[in-house]
Amino acid sequence: MTRENAKRIFIAGRTGSGKSTLARSMFRGAGARVIVCDPKGDWQHERGFKAIVTAPGWPLALLRTLRTHWQKGFKIALVPPPDGGSPAQDLIETCKLLFKVQKPYHERQDDRQITLVMEEMSFSYRQGVVSPEAYAPVQSMIRMGRDWGVNMIGITQSPGTVNRDYRANCAEVYLFALGISDAKSVTDVKALIKDPALKSAYDTMPNYHYIRITDHSCDMLKTKK
Ligand SMILES: Nc1ncnc2c1ncn2[C@@H]1O[C@H](COP(=O)(O)OP(=O)(O)O)[C@@H](O)[C@H]1O
Ligand SMILES: [Mg+2]
Repeated sequence: MTRENAKRIFIAGRTGSGKSTLARSMFRGAGARVIVCDPKGDWQHERGFKAIVTAPGWPLALLRTLRTHWQKGFKIALVPPPDGGSPAQDLIETCKLLFKVQKPYHERQDDRQITLVMEEMSFSYRQGVVSPEAYAPVQSMIRMGRDWGVNMIGITQSPGTVNRDYRANCAEVYLFALGISDAKSVTDVKALIKDPALKSAYDTMPNYHYIRITDHSCDMLKTKK
């Protein structure tokens, strides 16, 4: 059986720069299998998305929804309740659940991958939010998502604050313009741009433009609405 490798992807940029538009273009079409950890509730009204509120007992609701839609695909936004919730805890529980539902993939009895989108990842996977031990399921997914058929797309306005083990060795990094207040993040991401011409172009790059970096390429592109 040949299977395409599941990928880990990082998308950084200021509000309105086009991050979610780009993420959406990665799973357009029928049969998508997507779960978005959506702390700000941006995705729940997107076409084809079903929202699950992460109130007590929500992992069971998610499991049921996945079972119902397992054959045809699903687009689910996990949204915290309006009076609080914990993006970190939601991400941790989601990773735990993905290790359960993707067990057949790991055992080579099923080929279907899932895409986990972590919207506003600087809230959900940042040092000091929960103990390092509590993050173990997320760390495992970062290390082993490939073998479990879980693609990960991390999205943030503040790349410097996302835990380094996610950022390191992503298959693809997409850099949109960042907010000027986040000088440390700007320095961090510019270090990833190896092409000097693109590095200087990045400083004045308008919205909807981004630099795509892989192991062997670095290009400036534009989102398609
Ligand atoms: N190439 C484009 N041309 C015009 N508008 C765009 C383009 N790409 C994205 N947009 C629009 O810009 C707005 C912000 O994009 P969005 O992807 O939501 O940004 P972000 O997620 O970074 O905040 C959205 O209304 C989106 O439809
Ligand atoms: Mg967005």
